[in-house]
Amino acid sequence: MQEERLLKRKNAELSALLEVSKALNSSFELEKNLTHSMRVLSDYLEMSRGTVTLLDPVTKELRIVAAYGLAKEQITRGKYKIGEGIVGRAVKTGFPMVIPNIGDEPLFLNRTRSRIDKDKISFLCVPIKLKGDVLGVLSVDRIFGDKISFEEDLRVLKIVAALIAQSVGLYQSFSEERQEKENLTLELKGRYSLPNIIGLSDKMQEVFKTVLKVSKSKATVLLRGESGTGKELIARAIHYQSPRSNGPFIAINCAALPENLLEAELFGFEKGAFTGAIACKKGKFELAERGTIFLDEIGDVSFSIQGKLLRVLQEHSFDRLGGTRTIHVDVRIIAATNRDVEKMLHEGSFREDLYWRLNVVPVFLPALRERKEDLNILIEYFLQRFNKEYKKNVSLSKDALKRLLGYSYPGNVREMENTIERLIVLSDGDRITEDALPLYLRMQEAEVKLAGTMIKNIEEIERKNISNALKECGFIQAKAARMLGITPRQMGYKVKKYKIDVL
Ligand SMILES: Nc1ncnc2c1ncn2[C@@H]1O[C@H](COP(=O)(O)OP(=O)(O)OP(=O)(O)O)[C@@H](O)[C@H]1O
Ligand SMILES: [Mg+2]
Repeated sequence: MQEERLLKRKNAELSALLEVSKALNSSFELEKNLTHSMRVLSDYLEMSRGTVTLLDPVTKELRIVAAYGLAKEQITRGKYKIGEGIVGRAVKTGFPMVIPNIGDEPLFLNRTRSRIDKDKISFLCVPIKLKGDVLGVLSVDRIFGDKISFEEDLRVLKIVAALIAQSVGLYQSFSEERQEKENLTLELKGRYSLPNIIGLSDKMQEVFKTVLKVSKSKATVLLRGESGTGKELIARAIHYQSPRSNGPFIAINCAALPENLLEAELFGFEKGAFTGAIACKKGKFELAERGTIFLDEIGDVSFSIQGKLLRVLQEHSFDRLGGTRTIHVDVRIIAATNRDVEKMLHEGSFREDLYWRLNVVPVFLPALRERKEDLNILIEYFLQRFNKEYKKNVSLSKDALKRLLGYSYPGNVREMENTIERLIVLSDGDRITEDALPLYLRMQEAEVKLAGTMIKNIEEIERKNISNALKECGFIQAKAARMLGITPRQMGYKVKKYKIDVL
């Protein structure tokens, strides 16, 4: 009888160990794997409330990382200091501990408050050690009076703890590496962040905050900002952060097409709607069903299309060109413009009703020169991105960085992006020095002004020379040209340029 029981137990142990080792390798999520392992202990070996408590290498605090049979609140309550309670002692001494009856044990803190009827329970706890370091503790409850000896239980638990140690060790080195990488990608630094959009300045943080808020809704957004400030980038971010992210994101540049083509693109057409319409075609609004349509350069659409857009905004419906059937769509609208639409309202070239429908949530993207705090991080970001893309390892010299930081970027982020890409593509070595920069970047504002005055001075001298020569030659241009060593053609051009009176 006893032998049969032992055999069964051995079998259960083997199965449990096998299952635990599988569980520990089943995903990249440590907590999930550990919780799964604790469930195995409960299912196969009647070890309940299996708990893994790990030592935080920084705070030196012990925290329950995974447990089976404990509620979330109980898990969060499970915090100990080294040496505190039984768990804390096991960490400090590095030896297993067995409490035959937790009801009799004053050291037992029951910090998770999970054991109500303490009398019938024993508590076993083994350290999780890796190469001599104690990483934490594995502990289980055992119903008091079970026939299995504690020695037997401890033997199994030690093996499980060794398996867990391997796993935790691997995970910790893996997550350290990942943490380093994440620090490198610079995205975690701001309070609000969007993937691949850089901005730590207050102005950009404000934008991100609005974007994150507005993404949850279906509200129409009007993006404003100079060229290259990231309007399309933000439009995409709103879509991909929204509940519609699984639907399509359809972008259309309203300034790129003549009116009739734009209309056909937006609303589609039926067969025979116009010459050449040999088959019907869905428009962008239909293609964007259950997704988002991005109407770029909305300030450039004609008055008549504005009216049709207004209808879509009001009724969510439209007709295809040449169609008789009204089509309903479920589409979120994001529009963008770098035009002064308010001025257009006054001039009467933009419909006021459309403006109010579009302007539900306006988002203003600041020009780069208005957020110089972001220059550094953007430069770093693009350096990393293009180095990776072109498999290079190029960095900027101090002087080159200074120039890039001192520049005003009239083309905003796009200009910076292009500049850095070009620098990396064209670089020979691993270091970009000041003289590799384009001239306009090498000159500082003062130098630009100086260069301007120098050119003016040179022109003034040239103008005087030409006018003197002309006077000397009795205003015969060919003769004066010969005297100055230039062609008559060049002379003609200079006379015009300097508006010199010739007879
Ligand atoms: N904050 C940012 N972080 C990273 N990249 C950015 C950021 N802002 C803009 N960019 C990059 O700059 C380029 C221009 O951005 P985008 O096309 O969104 O600008 P835009 O405002 O739509 O310009 P335009 O009015 O000329 O169409 C893109 O390649 C985009 O990825
Ligand atoms: Mg754009």
